[in-house]
Amino acid sequence: MSGQTSSDKTYYVTTPIYYVNDAPHIGHAYTTLACDVLARFKRLDGYDVYFLTGTDEHGQKVEKSAEAAGVDPQAFTDQVSQNFRELADFMNFSHDGFIRTTEPRHAVSSQAIWTALKENGHIYLGTYNGWYAVRDEAFYAEDELTDGPDGKKIAPSGAECEWVEEPSYFFDLSKWQEPLLKFYEENPDFIAPKSRRNEVISFVKGGMHDLSVSRTSFKWGVDVPGDEKHIMYVWLDALTNYITAVNYPDQESSQYTKFWPADLHMVGKDILRFHAVYWPAFLIGAGLAPPKRIYAHGWWTNEGQKISKSVGNVIDPREIVETYGLDQVRYFLMREVPFGNDGDFSRKSVVSRINSELANDLGNLAQRTLSMVGRYCEGVLPEPGAYTDADTAMLKQATAVMDAYRTHLDNQVFHEALETIWQVVRAANAYVDQQAPWALHKEDPARRDTVLYVLAETIRHLALYIQPYMPDSAAVMLDQLDVPADARDFTHVGEGSALTPGTTLPKPAPVFPRFVEEESAN
Ligand code: MSP
Repeated sequence: MSGQTSSDKTYYVTTPIYYVNDAPHIGHAYTTLACDVLARFKRLDGYDVYFLTGTDEHGQKVEKSAEAAGVDPQAFTDQVSQNFRELADFMNFSHDGFIRTTEPRHAVSSQAIWTALKENGHIYLGTYNGWYAVRDEAFYAEDELTDGPDGKKIAPSGAECEWVEEPSYFFDLSKWQEPLLKFYEENPDFIAPKSRRNEVISFVKGGMHDLSVSRTSFKWGVDVPGDEKHIMYVWLDALTNYITAVNYPDQESSQYTKFWPADLHMVGKDILRFHAVYWPAFLIGAGLAPPKRIYAHGWWTNEGQKISKSVGNVIDPREIVETYGLDQVRYFLMREVPFGNDGDFSRKSVVSRINSELANDLGNLAQRTLSMVGRYCEGVLPEPGAYTDADTAMLKQATAVMDAYRTHLDNQVFHEALETIWQVVRAANAYVDQQAPWALHKEDPARRDTVLYVLAETIRHLALYIQPYMPDSAAVMLDQLDVPADARDFTHVGEGSALTPGTTLPKPAPVFPRFVEEESAN
């Protein structure tokens, strides 16, 4: 990516902040998981990482949900925000910060960006007459809507719209067509994947209206500085969380200078426009640097069906983790779908990937290698002899993954990164079968030792690589090879950190058990 300077070794990655009107579901788990894999990867690769997640607590939608629950909005958000922290804990997310938009520091920051926009002449007072969908917290133009039953107006997302007429401050978005197109042109990696970039560019080319950025008809939001009848539009407040968390408005603070602009905002495709159009316009308008990249991922369906609360087919992350295992779910979500595309959550595919790729391919490789070390070498890692071409090729393939891995994750191609790692897993299984250490056991123990050592080294590499995706399982594998805690980052890829022959290894236990379906009637 362009524009990197002396701060090359820092990495700031964010999730969207989640609306607290909803229980955490697979969509939330997915977005944050993708960021967690990146954050863990970058830490292992020597970066100073700041990984931010949190909750979006203002707006009409939350106010209405609180009202429906019969509690005041602050008490409501305190309670529901907690559900997202719990999700983060049981999914083993490694975020460094959790921001809530009801924190006092966030009001300061939102008001500061407002003031900067106002002073720079981008905000003016007018009246808003138009359609608003509370569910999306978004304004729509008449020609975007369709007629629903009962004469209701329906947004492209399916949300019901209501007519709003009230005094409002506006952001001069209509003036941003040229500057934004120029910005996209100069920063070809700003929006990913490419297909989404094209969508955004054609949206902007279509022309934009000024954006209503304040409301007067309800109270649950950040006050507009100098005009307290108004509260700020929830998306302006929400997007600002990304700079609040790095200490804005204190632009001299080390957190800000170190981490802003963010390296990546990860979002779902439904909220790309807010991040790729409004957000850079707000930032540039306020004299601040826009983020380096926005990635919009796809959506999950459940067994082929669109997920919706009214259909009742929402996938609860806790349930699937309890059923299949945490690392198994993390692996599946990152492996099943080419990242960026929509994907289907099918229980049959989950089981099939667990049993073939985790249990059979990787689990078995580790288990049979370590049991042979146990059985043939009394649990002591053997000394290798001279390497054959096959040995050298195996080790070379194992270490060579690192470069491709780095490139894949810099492009957020999570599934390809796993595929690259699994090529080594499959090559190692083929190597065991060809070398047949069990047959060498009696005839040529020295050669047997070399083969087992090459396998152990290959497994060490595989365990290092899978850490971002499956941290707990990777740790167990590394423990089984007696790899010290301070030898697990990516500087230890390669023969410089090779396992020490003569080390007594703990008794192996399977890391990835097969998933056995409960007996059912059919
Ligand atoms: N509060 C806003 C974001 C503000 S960011 C400054 C918001 N919150 S949300 O709770 O609705 O966010 C949900 C996130 O989950 C989005 O990234 C969305 O794309 C994602 N998903 C919701 N349902 C999903 C699926 N079925 N599949 C995958 N992700 C989906 O939007």
